[in-house]
Formats: sequence, C-alpha cells, structure tokens
Amino acid sequence: MTGTIDLLPSQMRLYNKICETFFAICKLYGYEEVATPILEDIRVFDRNLGLETDVVSKEMFFLEKKQDETLVLRPENTAGVMRLCQEGGLFQKLPQRLAYYGPMFRYERPQKGRYRQFHQFGVECIGVASYMADVENIQMAVHFMQEIGLAELTELEIHTLGSESERDAYKQALHDYLLPYKNELSENSVRRFDKNILRVLDSKNVHDQKILETAPVMRNFLQMESAKYFDNILESLENFGISYTVNPFLVRGLDYYNQTVFEIKTPALGAQSAVLGGGRYDGLAQQFGEKTPTPSIGWAAGMERLFLLAQEHQTLSVPPRKNIVIIAMTEAFDQEAQKYASLLRKEGIACLTVHEGTLRKRMKIASRLEAKYTIIFAPKEMENKTAILRDMMRSEERILPLADLIITVKKHYDT
Ligand code: HAM
Repeated sequence: MTGTIDLLPSQMRLYNKICETFFAICKLYGYEEVATPILEDIRVFDRNLGLETDVVSKEMFFLEKKQDETLVLRPENTAGVMRLCQEGGLFQKLPQRLAYYGPMFRYERPQKGRYRQFHQFGVECIGVASYMADVENIQMAVHFMQEIGLAELTELEIHTLGSESERDAYKQALHDYLLPYKNELSENSVRRFDKNILRVLDSKNVHDQKILETAPVMRNFLQMESAKYFDNILESLENFGISYTVNPFLVRGLDYYNQTVFEIKTPALGAQSAVLGGGRYDGLAQQFGEKTPTPSIGWAAGMERLFLLAQEHQTLSVPPRKNIVIIAMTEAFDQEAQKYASLLRKEGIACLTVHEGTLRKRMKIASRLEAKYTIIFAPKEMENKTAILRDMMRSEERILPLADLIITVKKHYDT
C-alpha cells in the first residue's frame, strides 16, 4: 500500500536497536513509558492541534462516523497523552515525565521519509515551568541522536513563539507586512496568509522566501520575560556544548505551541528534513479540563526517518545473532538433535536445527543464520558418542564427547 513500509528481518534488527536506544535514554532521564490507543475520538485532536493545520484539515484518517462520535487514527500523540493524564489523574501528580512509541497516521503525499503510517518516539515533560525543562528536553533529544550515530548528520534548530499576546502582535505585524505582497505570494502561501499566517514563514517557494527576507521577526515582539526565558535556554545549550541555529522561520505544523520550538533536521533525506520536532505547549492541558495552564514541553521523532538515515549511513552496528545450529546428518539423529537443541535453549542459548539438503547446503544455511557454532551429528562420530563442533568464525572443527557438548558450548557462547 502506498505510504507504508515493510521491514525485513535484517532491517527489523536495526529498527529494534533504535527502539532499545530510545528507551535506554528515557530511563536515564527518568521518563516512564505510557501507551494510548491508536483510535481516538476526533475531539482529542481537532481544536487542540488547530483546525487550520494541515494535519487536522486534510491529513486525518477517519474511521467510523456515528451520530455524535467520529473516530480517527491518531496523527500524533501529545494530545493523546494529555487525555491520558486527565483521565488517569496524572495532572494531580505533577511533574510527569512520560514517553511513548507507536504508529501514527497522516494522509500525506507519500515520498521518501514521508509515509501515511509512520512511527513516533515521543517524550512529554508535564508540569515544569523552568527553562531548565526545555534545556534538558532538548539535551535528551540530542543525546538520542548521538547514541544512534546521527549527531554528525543532523542539526538542531530552535526558535521561540513567545506568549499568546506577543504572538498575536507578531502575527498582526506579519500580516501588515505581507498584505502588499499578497498577489505575488504562491498559492499555498495565500491560503496560509488567510488561515494561519505564521505558516507562510515555512514556504519553500523561492519568491516567497525573497519577500520574507525583510519581514518582521518574532524576536522583536518578545517582552522581557519571554526574551529572558529564550536567552537562558540558548545560554545553557552553549554551556552544555550543544550547538544550535536560531531559525526565525521555524514554525511547527501544530498550533498548540508557545515559547520554545525546536527541530532536529538533516540535509541527508531530501525534502523530509525534520527527524524530530517539539516545543512547549503550556496551554494544552486546559483543553483537557485543567483549570490553569500546565507548563509542558516535549518532542517526537520519526522512526522511519531515523531508520533510513541509520541504514544508509551505517551509523549503528547491530550485533550478530549468535545462533547455535545443529545438523543431524541422517534422520536417525533427528530426535537427538532436537534433544540437544532443547537442552541448549534451557541454558538460554539460541539454537536451531537444520534438516534438509546436503551438508554443504546445510552449512550455507547455518552461515545465513549467523551461527556462532554448528554442531554436526554425523554417523561415524555418533557411533563413538561424539559430535563435530565447528567454530564458524574461525572455521575450526573439533570432535567432542556428547556428554561435554552443552557445557563446552555454554562456556564459549559469550566469548
Ligand atoms: P511533528 O513535527 O508533527 O510533531 O512530528 C514529529 C516527527 O514525526 C517529525 O519530525 C518527523 O520525523 C515525523 N513525521 C511526521 N510526519 C511524518 C510522516 N508522514 N512520515 C514519516 N515521519 C513523519 C509532533 O507530532 C508533536 N506531537 C511532537 C511533540 C511532542 N511536541 C511536543 N511534544
């Protein structure tokens, strides 16, 4: 199906390695995993992500329409996590540091790195107002990139959207600046001009970009408090040796953000440059019944984009499978082979038996199975209650008494 991908076993191993790395990082930063359903009521998302955002206005998958209930496949999970906090009573136990991983769905035009079913790793730090939460959250994102070998291939971009009133003032100024150019703007930007003016800043059109060169910038609309907040973050990032670019044109595709926004981008994936995106969303909890703003910040990273980068640039090594393969050369030894396979598995050693074909063919299969050792039950050796143990890496063979087989394999399995 367009916009979806399969993963072969070898790819799945790399994929799982990225997953393991993510959850190891979460553990280091004290984030606990949560899970929300893939199916949600549309009300979790529509207003909360912004009715005029692409995600809500054209990319949501609708599943079932009943009189007063519309179900959708979740396009993201920050809103879902807010619902979970409200229904699970977590807003009463702040702060919360929550993490998730799972499939998301957006009806986008598929291309490399952009799919209709994709997976996100996400973290949400809920209930901490200090700028240090922003710093730590970003530090965690950068740490994740380092651990999966993508630090050199990616760059952090950061910006601030200020408070709501500062943003409104900026939107007005941007509107006034762009109005005389409205006829010259691309079709897409004209649509955005009318519906969601900040999104014009994200235009990929060269002429639009030229016009934007002299447009007012958000920074000049920040009051003392927001400016200080942003400067503190930048200063701390520098202190922690995290390099960044302030991008005044950084606008996120979802409307719930205020103050800090950031993305981790790569030039190595063509048009789909963002591998991770996030920011502060202090007002979102109120949409889920909280009386006052709940300072929150988080990010999500796209697994498929990370995977493509890690695969193409071989940034992560996946350890070999370390199987033991038992080959019974005649049917008469099949039972014996299964018996020894079971004994090895009881010792926690991965073991497979190969039943068909010539010895040559079976040895080929054993190599493909990444056997560390192959045990061959051959007639002559079996007569003497022995078997051949072949070290596949060293291409060395020795004959061992059956009685010593398990203990010997066990001894050398982890070396
Ligand atoms: P987002 O920027 O919409 O943010 O998505 C985060 C990441 O998901 C993107 O940077 C990208 O890597 C990946 N992604 C998005 N759409 C696709 C797609 N169609 N195909 C493949 N990958 C995709 C959010 O979703 C926010 N909930 C992030 C967040 C968490 N903000 C605060 N907390």
